[in-house]
Order: sequence, then C-alpha cells, then structure tokens
Amino acid sequence: MTGIDDLPVRDELRGKSPYGAPQLDVPVQLNTNENPYPLPEPLVARIAERVAEAARTLNRYPDRDAVELRTELARYLTRTGGHPVAVENVWAANGSNEVLQQLLQTFGGPGRTAIGFEPSYSMHALIARGTGTGWISGPRSEDFTIDVAAAAAAIAENRPDVVFITSPNNPTGTAVAADTVLALYEAAQAAKPSMVVVDEAYVEFSHRDSLLPLIEGRPNLVVSRTMSKAFGAAGLRLGYLAAHPAVVDAVQLVRLPYHLSAVTQATALAALEHTDTLLGYVEQLKAERDRLVTELRGIGYEVTDSDANFVQFGKFPDTHAAWRRILDRGVLVRDNGVPGWLRVTAGTPEENDAFLDAVRELMKEQER
Ligand SMILES: Cc1ncc(COP(=O)(O)O)c(C=O)c1O
Repeated sequence: MTGIDDLPVRDELRGKSPYGAPQLDVPVQLNTNENPYPLPEPLVARIAERVAEAARTLNRYPDRDAVELRTELARYLTRTGGHPVAVENVWAANGSNEVLQQLLQTFGGPGRTAIGFEPSYSMHALIARGTGTGWISGPRSEDFTIDVAAAAAAIAENRPDVVFITSPNNPTGTAVAADTVLALYEAAQAAKPSMVVVDEAYVEFSHRDSLLPLIEGRPNLVVSRTMSKAFGAAGLRLGYLAAHPAVVDAVQLVRLPYHLSAVTQATALAALEHTDTLLGYVEQLKAERDRLVTELRGIGYEVTDSDANFVQFGKFPDTHAAWRRILDRGVLVRDNGVPGWLRVTAGTPEENDAFLDAVRELMKEQER
C-alpha cells in the first residue's frame, strides 16, 4: 500500500507525526484547554443574525483586510490590555496558529531559525518545520520558569531570527515577567535583529497583566492572541496579533487573499459584542483553576503555579500509566510528553470534581 514515504514529500517531513491530541469520546474531556462553557443563547442568536447578513453577500469575496473586525479587536485590546491599540496595530487570521504561521513565513523560513523555551507549545516547533524554519529548543528551569541568563545565552549562541516566549506557557501554566521579556528582547536584538513573538493565548486567565504594553517603541515585538480560550470560541478559528504597523504590513506579503471568510468575520464580531458576558466565564474558570491547584496540592500532588486555564500536576513514575488510570475513570487529561507530569484543563465545577475524585483514587492506589 502506498504510504507517505512513497511520495516525494520534503525530506524534513519524512518519518514525522502530525499534531494530534487524542479526541476520545469520554464523559469528561479536560485535555485540550478548551473553555467548557458553550456560548450563551443570546450570543448564538446574534451570531445567526450576523451570519445571515453575511450570507446575503457570500457571492462576493470578504473584506480582505477585515477592517471592522480588526477595529473591534483593537478596541478589546485597548480596554483590557493596558495599552492603547489601533486598527493598524492588529492583524487577524484563522486561529493564532495561522497568525504564528504567517509570522514564520515572513520572518523565518529556509536558512533561518526560531527558538522556544521548552517544554512549551508544541505547535511552535511544528509550524517552524512546516515553514522550513530551523528549530532550536531553548532551556527552561526545573521549576518551569525561564532563567534569563540561560535563555539569553542560548539566544546569543544561536542568533535565532524568531524568539517565542509563551506567557502563560503551555503546558506548564507559567507566566513570564515583563522584565524577562525585555531582557530577552535586548539579547535577541544584540545577537541579530530578530522578531520576539509573545504568545499570550491564555493571558485572560493570568494573575498578571498582559505584556501588550511592551510593543510600544519595540517594532520587533509581537503579541499573539486568540478567541479560542477566553472567548470560548475554539471552533470559530480566530487568532490575532498586536504589533507595530510595519509588522502588519509585513505579514500581508504571505497571507492568502481573503483568508478570513465573511462567516468567520461576522461570527467573531458577534462574539466581541458579548465580551463582558464571556469574560464573566473567565472569572469562574480562574476560580476553578485556583481550586484545582489547591485541591491537588491537598491530595499530595506537586503542582506548577498556573496562570492559565489548565494545571500541570505530578509527579508520576510512569506518566503514561497514570494518564491511562485517569482515563479508565472516564476523565481525559493530557500527556504532553513532559516526563512525570500531566496537564488538566479547568472544566465546569462538576467536571473538575470528577477529575479530582479520579486523581484522589489514583493517589490512594499509588500509596498502596
Ligand atoms: C500557547 C498556545 N498558543 C496558540 C494556540 C493556538 O490556538 P488557536 O490556533 O486555537 O488560536 C494554543 C492552543 O492550544 C496554545 O496553547
């Protein structure tokens, strides 16, 4: 039977696996950092209205520059990010994964490299691979924070073209201090003028402020965001960035024409009209996340401090066996390949109770 390796695929793709969090049909799914709350009915109705409006002109291509949507995203960032942002500073695409891909197509590519401080979001390395960008795995401390001296040394040594800083970090939940980002930005500019991409996919769940104000006066710094988590709209596929207008101009060189469908733009605009309600769910999830941290520690697990909508816990002598034991109890969590550690997404209070019951039993089993 013909397989991938029988096709003339690019050498660097041979023998590799695609991104693939298991999508298993179990009662409690806490493995992909989704928001557990469905969109509220008034918002569902508003989406139907706005999409119906968009449908009337679906014979035409959508606004290629998504100006209305970018204006509303800029308004949201200005309101919540601690820094005034205008439409020229904002760019949007199909999920922040596409934003990151456009950034690597623009600033990475063959003969160039990107660095991330691992363990971190695995798609950074995969998008690098897909865009022909060399990947450098930078260091992270035992406690999963970024050690500035070690990270700056890795930047000085490798002189990457793109530096990824994920805050809060996935899968560890660790937020990065503004001072650390500034020090790494300086290190990156000293090594070679390079782009620093701050991935803030989970920032709405953080105890700390957004790093958005750091874009001021730093044209090589980009903040990337998503509506998949805080806005509870993972199925929408809407990500965006904030940066100097020159960065927005630069990504135009690689974006596909009309990449954001009229339906996507209409749906995202409807969701943004309901920002306050959706951010109310975020407050509930933050409280549930903090409860998970406290209860897991109470049971006797080690827990990494979390600023995201998920919690990293351990340590397990056999991580995969622990993942399986939890799954046997009807709860799907994530094994991100960090030895000894698993990650659970904060769900509804009932889902979190089911998870806590499962890991309480697991702890008893391990103590036996
Ligand atoms: C750190 C981080 N960045 C970006 C993304 C991509 O999100 P999306 O493409 O849904 O916007 C994720 C998704 O899990 C993530 O964890």
